[in-house]
Amino acid sequence: MTIQFSTKIFPQADLQSPKLQKSSLKSLLSQSSDCLVLAYSKADFDSFGGKNKSGFLTELDLLLGGSLSHAKTLGDLDAKQASVCLLRADQSWSTSGVKSKRVLLLSLGEANGSSDRTLTEFSKIARAGLKALSGGAIENALWYVPSFTQKSELMAEEVRLSIQYAGDQAYRFGVRQPAMKFKAKDQADTFKHLVFAGNNACAKELKAAVEQGIAMVEGMHLAKDLGNLPPNICTPTYLAKTAQGLAKKVGLKVEVLGRKQLEALGMGSFLSVAQGSETPPQFIVMRHQGGKAGEAPIVLVGKGITFDTGGISLKPGEAMDEMKYDMCGAASVIGTMYTTGLLKLKKNVIGVIPTCENMPSGQATRPGDIVKSMSGQTIEILNTDAEGRLILCDALTYVERFKPKAVIDIATLTGACVIALGHVHSGLFSEDEDLVNALSKAGKASLDTVWRLPLDAAYHEQLKSNFADVANIGGRPAGSVTAACFLSRFTEKYKWAHLDIAGTAWKSGAAKGSTGRPVPLLVNFLLEQK
Ligand code: BES
Ligand code: MN
Ligand code: ZN
Repeated sequence: MTIQFSTKIFPQADLQSPKLQKSSLKSLLSQSSDCLVLAYSKADFDSFGGKNKSGFLTELDLLLGGSLSHAKTLGDLDAKQASVCLLRADQSWSTSGVKSKRVLLLSLGEANGSSDRTLTEFSKIARAGLKALSGGAIENALWYVPSFTQKSELMAEEVRLSIQYAGDQAYRFGVRQPAMKFKAKDQADTFKHLVFAGNNACAKELKAAVEQGIAMVEGMHLAKDLGNLPPNICTPTYLAKTAQGLAKKVGLKVEVLGRKQLEALGMGSFLSVAQGSETPPQFIVMRHQGGKAGEAPIVLVGKGITFDTGGISLKPGEAMDEMKYDMCGAASVIGTMYTTGLLKLKKNVIGVIPTCENMPSGQATRPGDIVKSMSGQTIEILNTDAEGRLILCDALTYVERFKPKAVIDIATLTGACVIALGHVHSGLFSEDEDLVNALSKAGKASLDTVWRLPLDAAYHEQLKSNFADVANIGGRPAGSVTAACFLSRFTEKYKWAHLDIAGTAWKSGAAKGSTGRPVPLLVNFLLEQK
């Protein structure tokens, strides 16, 4: 990885305890780090500025030869949430045994403990701190936030989020693909190592959260790479090879089915999308067996269209390159399976990926064609650009064999979802309240959020066909809902949720690139599964 994370336990460290704050500061400052990051609350700030100077900032000022009061006089130190103040070592620091080259003060604002702050507030604070560490000469930092020494659910979320953001910031395309051109401006960041400082109160919890964060970033980076790779390299076969690579790396069981086997299974719907392409379709099954042998698995199904031209219902040319991202559902499943394997989660998790290209050709499916899905239902293909649902429906039938505890499909399914929810929330569709709650909670815990949209029977009307059991499009109104309704017809045998990530999986414009979403959401969901 381009960035490393670790923990260092200072057994007695506690900056809130008047008795311990001096010795705590001494031990934190005696670490030879490029930068010690210390978070302080408005209360800490006030007691530093007040008449009877007290609190850890006062002690810190003494150890740093007055650097802090100086910064405050200059107006560089304040109590506004997420403001930062960087102090650089001078002669006086070494006389008090300070080995840190810098101290970065990070303002938590009103909130001190994690219990009185929301994760959204913390995200702004963490981003500000990480931004200050990046892009300069700082290579490593020791990161102390008081809440990291307090046992709470939010503590783990804050630690994982810090790692998620630091990983995001450190991500560079091409680092893991030596064949790709490595642009000069994409040089790796100097900042390479973030150390989380903890104490004895919850050392175990801190270490676990850091480990989870590291594994999640690995999964996100893999998902981003797969999304960003050009469609002439990231083909269905490439995705299959990547999955097989993980089999060796983290002990997943991977099986890949080719065209002949898909024909034998009767996947007429999936194959109808693949038939216009010279590139062979692949059906990837990745298994993580961390739970008991008979335990019902969680199944993740990812849409893997490695390029979506629209087929005969050809898309307009503008920004068509972005349709290389139409495999981001698959990428998020591969990324999440990687994380699952790295963490050796004690659950059974299966990732399933139908993958092919959607191309126009003399062999391609025509609008009006009728195909038979693996479920036996016939589908009238009225628009060949509504191909995601055609490959997913056969995968959703295939996974019945696993007798799943729940199935979640993840797909860049509809442009309509981008119109409805923009780039903030992924669309969530499910009739199972437990799954809705668990996925919503996991989204909030990782700031990789979802918004529920309906699946009512009334919308099914739009999918009626005069010639087959179902049509593959339902017209313009509620396009994301009718797409989800189409999928729901293939999910009757198990609990199911659908995530439409068309607006959240990648960014357009100058910052064009894969976001790695919804790997954080899926990882948090799996971590919470009992
Ligand atoms: N991959 C697209 C969905 C998409 C479009 C994602 C734009 C992100 C941005 C999907 O295969 C598609 O083309 N959907 C059509 C469905 C329509 C033909 C019913 C769409 O959204 O226009
Ligand atoms: Mn399409
Ligand atoms: Zn598509």
